[in-house]
Amino acid sequence: MTRVLTGITTSGTPHLGNYVGAVRPAIAASRASDAESFYFLADLHSLIKAQDPARTQRSTLEIAATWLAAGLEPDKVWFYRQSDIPEITELTWFLTCVAGKGILNRAHAYKAAVDRNRADSEDDDSGISAGLFMYPVLMAADILIFKADRVPVGRDQVQHIEMARDFGQRFNHVYGRDYFVLPEAAIDESVATLPGLDGRKMSKSYDNTIPLFAPRAELKKAVSSITTDSRAPGEAKETEGSALFQLYQAFASADETAQMRQAYAEGIGWGDAKQKLFECIDAQIAPMRERYEALIAKPADIESILRDGAGRLREKYAIPFLAELREAVGLRDLSQQPKVDAKAAAKSTLPSFKQYRDSDNRFYFKFMDGDGVLLVQSNGFDSPKEAGQLIAVLKRSDRADAMETPEINLLVPVQDVLAALRQLREAEA
Ligand code: TRP
Repeated sequence: MTRVLTGITTSGTPHLGNYVGAVRPAIAASRASDAESFYFLADLHSLIKAQDPARTQRSTLEIAATWLAAGLEPDKVWFYRQSDIPEITELTWFLTCVAGKGILNRAHAYKAAVDRNRADSEDDDSGISAGLFMYPVLMAADILIFKADRVPVGRDQVQHIEMARDFGQRFNHVYGRDYFVLPEAAIDESVATLPGLDGRKMSKSYDNTIPLFAPRAELKKAVSSITTDSRAPGEAKETEGSALFQLYQAFASADETAQMRQAYAEGIGWGDAKQKLFECIDAQIAPMRERYEALIAKPADIESILRDGAGRLREKYAIPFLAELREAVGLRDLSQQPKVDAKAAAKSTLPSFKQYRDSDNRFYFKFMDGDGVLLVQSNGFDSPKEAGQLIAVLKRSDRADAMETPEINLLVPVQDVLAALRQLREAEA
């Protein structure tokens, strides 16, 4: 069964834009598909920006309550909190050790922070935490730990999914098996971005949002503050570019939207149009608002829903998978020595030096390739120390003239000797 995984940032208080752009389509998708769905609160990620503990806790509560109130069914989908799954943080380290730093240097969020510093003539990394830099690795762990096939995201997150693929692939390559499924980003083009009060995209950073669960009176006040033009009642209005119309369309049925379009053409007054918009939003939000308030009033219930989700998920997937990965990287039970160590086997096929004393009582060495073919034979030395010193010199050298010493005889072309020395150096590095 396809696995679909959605990460929810736990910062701020959800607004109508989050609802229309993320919550509503995700919940509809969770009901429509027969996929195995994962929804989680990315609270560890939130620490990168939010370092006020009370707000972190509050925001996690509000966002959990929002998803539940909006209809997420924790007995049909996996619903959990990232920080309840310690295996995610452990996997983050394994991935950190295969992730290319150069790839992280290219992450948009990090690069944008560096660019801002440059514009302000600051040090490149001034004020940038390692957490911001490592963000994509933690996100990759979120995705890879549950072998998600598809990750629905906005355009700004596509690069992160590509990085998750890259880190997963490197791990698979280094440890020689397909431990990780490589995820695909799924971008939903049909979801429109909602305009805010001033007509720009609704976003906390523009301070133009309408809180999702504002009390009725507050919602009404917010709707009445939406920017319109100055056309009087009776004058025909443009739907094109009208934030009010777009907001209406996001909540109304197709029929209602057609009627509103007609009303615009017939010169509906802005006051009336705002009243209709308010009623339309409120009709859809009111039942959810009621559930939301009931949930927020019982935080212990939300806590136990989240813990239950994480507990089951750890048992079923996270704990066994991390056990497999620990084994893969070599964090193993010392009492269980492998019969044939693959690394040791690989070593025995490497070129090697052998020191020995011959019947003339002098000290010699030879250098052989992995198959035991003799490449270099030394002459006799008075002491093993002298033989060892020349071996050390040869091991370091990458130049043909270093091989031109009378103390050794090459039995193969000098290039082959140099290649074997290089192979040995790489294996020992
Ligand atoms: N970075 C995502 C965002 O800002 C949130 C997130 C964290 C996420 N981990 C994830 C999304 C894993 C998808 C998969 O929206």
